[in-house]
Amino acid sequence: MKPPIPKKKEELIKEIKGLCRSKNALILAHYYQDDEIQEIAHFIGDSLELSRKAANTDAEIIVFCGVHFMAETAKILSPEKTVLIPDLEAGCSLADECQEDDFKHFIDSNPDHYVISYINCTAAVKAQSDLICTSSNAVDLVKKIPKDQKIIFAPDKNLGKWVENQSGRKMKLWEGSCIVHESFSEEAVVKLKLKYPNAKVIAHPECQQVLLEHADYIGSTSKLLNYAQESNSDQFIVLTEPGILFQMKKNLPKKIFIEVPNIEGCSCNKCPYMRLNTLDKVISCLRNMKPQIHMEESTRMKALSPIKKMLEMSK
Ligand code: 13P
Ligand code: SF4
Repeated sequence: MKPPIPKKKEELIKEIKGLCRSKNALILAHYYQDDEIQEIAHFIGDSLELSRKAANTDAEIIVFCGVHFMAETAKILSPEKTVLIPDLEAGCSLADECQEDDFKHFIDSNPDHYVISYINCTAAVKAQSDLICTSSNAVDLVKKIPKDQKIIFAPDKNLGKWVENQSGRKMKLWEGSCIVHESFSEEAVVKLKLKYPNAKVIAHPECQQVLLEHADYIGSTSKLLNYAQESNSDQFIVLTEPGILFQMKKNLPKKIFIEVPNIEGCSCNKCPYMRLNTLDKVISCLRNMKPQIHMEESTRMKALSPIKKMLEMSK
């Protein structure tokens, strides 16, 4: 039996639901959010699904329970909507490691390259790109680029290397990485494989290659969830942020999901940015209509084109 929800939390949830109804607001959440945020969300998905939802909703307000680049993408796609993010500090190491001016210099130093950027980057970087991708469509999109076309891939070098291996295309990679996925311990994975010999290892492509070599399946957060649903196996060693385990356990209560510790030896691979959002902050942003996502219209227009291209190419 589920433990009773503490009164305060029950009241918070009631108020959030009431505010969403009266203000015509939609709560979008990524799988790396705390369980209680996933519970109140109207829609949960990976980056690609969340951007599709943001582009197609009739809601007037989007409360984006994810990180800044995700909320920014929602605003780029739906400029007429108010896009709220519970905590404006919810960033991403990949976006931080790829600054607008440095990226311009990189592109200028590699002329004649087609620029593909992972969605985990700022609007200013998207605005300099030819095409955006997510972890769920990166391989397919790269395969669609003519073979003789040179490609820049930014900002995740680990995703980039995986895409190179899957597509057979060599690309010019930006040297960024995700602080969460880079911190998983290979030693811990090996130990867990020995302890659970029948378990399938499932991994997000932001992990380092040495870890991906242990994986039976690699994919975006939604793809990992689908794989666990469709697989005959009932045990999974999960090499990604443990927020995803909430949906895995909820949808598949009879299956076993095992977190991988990070190199320091604790099971604390939670994304420090994603986890900044809380129920209190969701209420506060709905009550006060801030913090909101804003950007220069010229940047938005430039960033829109490679995102639209992605959505058209990955229908
Ligand atoms: P997904 O697109 O797979 O949900 O990944 C987003 C992300 O930030 C992973 O760290
Ligand atoms: Fe960025 Fe990594 Fe957090 Fe995803 S898990 S939002 S890539 S820091």
